[in-house]
Amino acid sequence: MNTPGTYFESQYAHAEDPWHLAERWYDRRKYELTLAALPRPRYRRGFEPGCSVGVLTSLLAPRCDRLLSADRIASAVETTARRTRALEQVTVRRLAVPDEWPEEQFDLVVLSELLYYFDAPTRTRLLQRSAQSLEPGGHLVAVHWNHAVAEHTCTGRDIAAELDALSGLGRLARYDDPDFTLTVHERRHDGGPARSPAQAEGLA
Ligand SMILES: C[S@@+](CC[C@H](N)C(=O)[O-])C[C@H]1O[C@@H](n2cnc3c(N)ncnc32)[C@H](O)[C@@H]1O
Repeated sequence: MNTPGTYFESQYAHAEDPWHLAERWYDRRKYELTLAALPRPRYRRGFEPGCSVGVLTSLLAPRCDRLLSADRIASAVETTARRTRALEQVTVRRLAVPDEWPEEQFDLVVLSELLYYFDAPTRTRLLQRSAQSLEPGGHLVAVHWNHAVAEHTCTGRDIAAELDALSGLGRLARYDDPDFTLTVHERRHDGGPARSPAQAEGLA
């Protein structure tokens, strides 16, 4: 079963930043590793669903010409918009993915601490929509908690395995520790292999 919207509404009814994303070293370190894993220095068009209060949004923005961030909860959208108001490249929308999904194509999609709120069929749909939204050569970054949590349907390692099984994507990178798993997949050009940063720069 998918985690119902009422769960998130109740989280945000009690706190502006229910997961303390702006305060914890755990999250700060994970965000730095996520940024370090991006294969390109810059992206033309990024999409970050489930942005919460926009801490990762504000760190991704300097790497993107345009960045669309979205959350299903209105107060989270407002907090992200406030946090990023000086960042002209950022647009924040209220969307409940995967049913609501932007029309555009992206060269970067970031799924951070989101997928374990969905059951397996919905996760598959969300991953397929993410992959279909990517331009050839675009990157899909996933980063998720590995410890057991009552509301979570799976772990970061499970999500990494689902991404590896998705057709049309090739894995470029994986980082694992006891707390979280981070992967970077590339949408293949014409079914060819994913290209590493050194290969893309002609070094290998
Ligand atoms: C744990 S927070 C993750 C925050 C952020 N991605 C990060 O890593 O810092 C999960 C967020 O996903 C949002 N969310 C949950 N289901 C969603 C859905 N179907 N569509 C969009 N956002 C959703 C929640 O409202 C919440 O803000």
